[in-house]
Amino acid sequence: MYIKDLSNFKDNDVTLKGWVSNKRDGKGLVFVILRDGTGLCQCIIDSSKVDPGVFENASSLGLESSLILKGKVVEDSRQLGGFEVHVSDLQILQLVKDYPIAKKEHGVDFLMDKRHLWLRSGRQWAILKIRNCIIFSIHSFFQKEGFVEMDAPIFTGNACEGTSTLFETDYYGEPAYLSQSGQLYGEAMAMAMGKIYTFGPTFRAEKSKTRRHLSEFWMIEPEMAFFDIFDNMDLIEKFLHAVISDVLEKCSAELEIIGRDKESLRKSLAKFPRLTYDEAVQIIKGEKDVDGQNSIVSLEELLKNTELKQKELNAEIEQREEKIKTPGMKKGEINFNQNKINQLKNDLKDVEEDLRNIPQWIESAKNFEYGNDFGGSDETVITRLYDSPIMVYDWPHEVKAFYLKRNPENDRFARGVDVLAPEGYGEIVGGGERETNEALLKEKIIEHDLPMSEFEWYLDLRRYGSVPHAGFGLGLERLVTWICKLKHVRESIPFPRMYGRLMP
Ligand code: 4AD
Ligand code: MG
Repeated sequence: MYIKDLSNFKDNDVTLKGWVSNKRDGKGLVFVILRDGTGLCQCIIDSSKVDPGVFENASSLGLESSLILKGKVVEDSRQLGGFEVHVSDLQILQLVKDYPIAKKEHGVDFLMDKRHLWLRSGRQWAILKIRNCIIFSIHSFFQKEGFVEMDAPIFTGNACEGTSTLFETDYYGEPAYLSQSGQLYGEAMAMAMGKIYTFGPTFRAEKSKTRRHLSEFWMIEPEMAFFDIFDNMDLIEKFLHAVISDVLEKCSAELEIIGRDKESLRKSLAKFPRLTYDEAVQIIKGEKDVDGQNSIVSLEELLKNTELKQKELNAEIEQREEKIKTPGMKKGEINFNQNKINQLKNDLKDVEEDLRNIPQWIESAKNFEYGNDFGGSDETVITRLYDSPIMVYDWPHEVKAFYLKRNPENDRFARGVDVLAPEGYGEIVGGGERETNEALLKEKIIEHDLPMSEFEWYLDLRRYGSVPHAGFGLGLERLVTWICKLKHVRESIPFPRMYGRLMP
């Protein structure tokens, strides 16, 4: 019996097992918000209707105490989920008195240290339910499209995405690396199956703390024989549309819990603008507008508005801090104001971070050097101007991976494509058409200083039945972060691994 099914048991007696997510005492009444993993439900313990021992037990419950309770399901439209339970009996499995995560605002570092408990909170629960929906949707999409799921190895002898972010391990006395991407194996598997996708963990030693980088993340990598870069972009768009529609349809309640604006997400069901690198650079540098919006001008406006916001927050904090000094103020009111102050201070931290970032975005946009790869701030600058993801393709070949095919019409460019999510989020997908020319590939392997012997098997794919092919890699956590509109990628995975964090 689970809370999500209560509506089928109206006016019946049920047994629920769960944890105390919240508790409030009234006159002769205890209100417990029970959490069972599937939902929340208000349970009322009325001293006039239960044994005194039961009422005493209910009164003693602290947050996250575990229990089994029996009671009647009563319809009440004001309640979460439309039902409440009038309790007749209650058995405590474990009484908890000092749950470390209180209702007041905690800092993120504290919550990250308590990640094993923080997962139980409503917001984290909703984010990870959405992650689950996305994973299921990804598999459904590719299975329906006739792809075969194939697993790439995690221990590898070669670097797929450059040598700078490799995690080295000891493999029976030989060095091996944790996989940065399953792509090279994906290409081999696509030659066996036609269309494949991998879905596995990938590892990158990213020695910096950013809101986009994890050291361990999950990547979905489809690879398709006989696809060119344009077929690839068509597939990416169809795929992301399918995932977003599924989330909108199946996770409406979860999106509401986290306060995600569904209308702005729905805008991503439109066609994704496709820009060449050259066009994208013009937009970043403010040389070309998007629907009347100029990158630099709109950032300057953003800076002004953010400064205003900072003033307002500071004023409100000061005002409330004065207020709680009033002699004789009730404890409840002081607590209320103190919580509000903590909340405002957290908001202020974000605003102050924006105030540090925006001038940097403006500078890097103005000074962007044609020919460079995009950094996080360049991606933010351009994606702020769009409502849906955009696809940027045909990159200067020097800044992209060794395996990308050269544009046959202009060999300055490699046929890579990055998908950048809107609202400032940036890259969620990297992919492209693969080089099929063995000589050009060898040249690139040397240029990138990669050990040729480790790539002999890969070059075989160009020797025996080589065909045009393409694929892409979607970073699962980047997608979850954008769909849930999270500030930082760390909340998109149950136990994040990133620079400076290995626990819990
Ligand atoms: O752009 P990347 O490096 O592309 C590849 O690895 C290709 N081999 C994929 C392919 O064509 N099969 O990485 C792909 C995606 C990025 O767009 C990003 O979403 C995610 O992986 N990603 C990360 N996510 C979290 N933390 C990191 N450190 C990430 N690095 C890449
Ligand atoms: Mg990339």
